[in-house]
Amino acid sequence: MFRQSAFRIFAVMKSFQEILLQTDFARDDLVALLLAEGEDRQQLFQRAQAIKLNTVGNKIFFRGLIEFSNICSKDCLYCGIRKSNKKVNRFEATDDEILEACRFAWLNRFGSVVLQSGEQSSPTFIQRINLLLRKIKEISNGELGITLSCGEQSIETYRQWRENGAHRYLLRIESFNADLYRKIHPEDDFHSFERRLQALKDLKTTGYQVGTGVMIGLPFQTTEDLADDLLFLKQIDVDMVGMGPYLEHEDTPLYKFRNLIKPKQERFDMALKMVATLRLLLPDINIAAATALQAIDPAGREKALTIGANILMPNLTPCEYRKEYQLYEDKPCLEEDADLCRNCLEARIELAGCKIGYGEWGDSKHYKK
Ligand code: 5AD
Ligand code: FES
Repeated sequence: MFRQSAFRIFAVMKSFQEILLQTDFARDDLVALLLAEGEDRQQLFQRAQAIKLNTVGNKIFFRGLIEFSNICSKDCLYCGIRKSNKKVNRFEATDDEILEACRFAWLNRFGSVVLQSGEQSSPTFIQRINLLLRKIKEISNGELGITLSCGEQSIETYRQWRENGAHRYLLRIESFNADLYRKIHPEDDFHSFERRLQALKDLKTTGYQVGTGVMIGLPFQTTEDLADDLLFLKQIDVDMVGMGPYLEHEDTPLYKFRNLIKPKQERFDMALKMVATLRLLLPDINIAAATALQAIDPAGREKALTIGANILMPNLTPCEYRKEYQLYEDKPCLEEDADLCRNCLEARIELAGCKIGYGEWGDSKHYKK
């Protein structure tokens, strides 16, 4: 009895420094890291940066992001392009427009593209992606890596897309707290937490490098939830992570809970601490500097690159469609064309002390292992 409580006191007395130097982390440790302020917070960032340099190095990799359609069959309560938002003009970029953006990525030696859209699963859509994948490989001599981010699909669809050339897939779990997941999605089988988990498993089974992630600063979300999210990422042996601050959108049902969320700057800061803590927990994975960071702070993505992230997704969506792909408010880069984005990006990345891995796929070292 005595020994047990003595152990507990000892455990409580673990210093922040000791936690930082661990290689494995319990939930309480992660909570302590996420709550770090002042000097502790700086040390967390320094440690994450050092671990990043020692494992994945200072190279960052581009994934040209092409948001090719905002047509979505789902109704997530936080998302600006949800099916029930009638204010959105729905678009579908043509094959030529998509291929043009891919050609730009290839000519500029981006290495990879991400094709992202709302969720559709008609046979026409599935077949269209099959053909597009083959064409992208064709026009780039097989050199462009292709990531898909088109929501939950059947395992058979994942298999077809994999066979036609996609080798990475992004599907965020959004939150690993099943109750919270239910609060931010409609209550039906189509939006179920279990279905989401199954989709992630199917993606692994079909041989993709799998990327997932969460939103940070959601209404009802606690620091413990975020620590559990990090443990989940470890548990499913993830290869890539993209996570960013939740940003309220006026035309969504979740907007009514805006008085329950933290100020934007705090959500931003928590997102940075999540990135740094994740780098400590999973040193060799790919971590994206989320675009949502840039919606709060113009230098937000570069800040993430200096403290642990190593992937950047410059927006290559044709300009005319960007204003219709507003998942959240204040989405950046609405006016810039792809060239401009690239030039200013390069300078900012170098300022952040990183080098760009031009023409490389930059696959997750974790996956290669
Ligand atoms: N705020 C922040 N991120 C959002 N996403 C969707 N809506 C929002 C929002 N309001 C994120 C989700 C989704 C990804 C494509 O964009 O995590 O998986
Ligand atoms: Fe489109 Fe969630 S609203 S997938």
